[in-house]
Amino acid sequence: MSIILVGGSPGTGKTKVAKILGSKLSVEVISLGEFADESGCITVEDKARKTGIINEDCLVDALLKLTEDKSKRIVIEGHYIDLVPSSSVQWVFILRTHPEKLRARLSERSYSNEKVTENVEAEVMGVCQMDALDAFGEAEVFEIDTTELSAPQTAEKIDMMLKNKSSPTRIDWMSQLEEQGRLDEFLTD
Ligand SMILES: Nc1ncnc2c1ncn2[C@@H]1O[C@H](COP(=O)(O)OP(=O)(O)O)[C@@H](O)[C@H]1O
Ligand SMILES: [Mg+2]
Repeated sequence: MSIILVGGSPGTGKTKVAKILGSKLSVEVISLGEFADESGCITVEDKARKTGIINEDCLVDALLKLTEDKSKRIVIEGHYIDLVPSSSVQWVFILRTHPEKLRARLSERSYSNEKVTENVEAEVMGVCQMDALDAFGEAEVFEIDTTELSAPQTAEKIDMMLKNKSSPTRIDWMSQLEEQGRLDEFLTD
C-alpha cells in the first residue's frame, strides 16, 4: 500500500486537484469526508456550523481496515489526513493558498463570515502544515503554493514531484504578512 495524501485548508483545491491527479496516475481517489460518512464515523450533527462531527477513533479504525485491504496505490484527500496510518503513507502534499486569495474563494462559497475568517486564520497560521509535520515528519511533507496555479497545473506539479523527489519547501504566510505589516487584515484577536 502506498498512499499519496493531499491536504490543506478548506478551499485550497484538495478535492479538485486530487481528482485530476487520480486520473493522471490512474489510481483511485478517496475523499476522507465521504469515506468517514460511508464508514459511519460522522456522528452528531453540529447544526450551528452545518457540519457533522467526525468520530476520530472510528475513522482511524476504518482507515486501518482500508489500508489493510488495498494493495495498490491510492490518493486520499481531505481535511483529516493526519489520521491516515503513517506506515502506509508514501507522499504528503499540503496545498497552500495566499490568505487573500483563499478569503476571496471561500467568500464565493456559501460560508458564513465567521467560517471564512476561521479558515483564513488557520491558513495564515499553517494549521494543516503543522498537523501534517507532526504526523508524518519534515522529510515527508511537501507544501505547494497554489496561489498562482490552476488546479490542473497543481496536479501537474505534484506529478512532477512524484517522479523527481526534491527537498521539501516550507510556506509561512504569517512571517510574510508580518513583514508586510498586513497581519491585522487576516487575524482577529
Ligand atoms: N487554482 C485553483 N486550484 C484549485 N481550486 C481552485 C483554483 N481556482 C479556483 N478553484 C476553486 O476553488 C474551490 C475549492 O476547491 P476544492 O477542490 O473544493 O477545495 P477543497 O477540497 O480544498 O476545499 C473550487 O470551487 C475550485 O473550483
Ligand atoms: Mg474538498
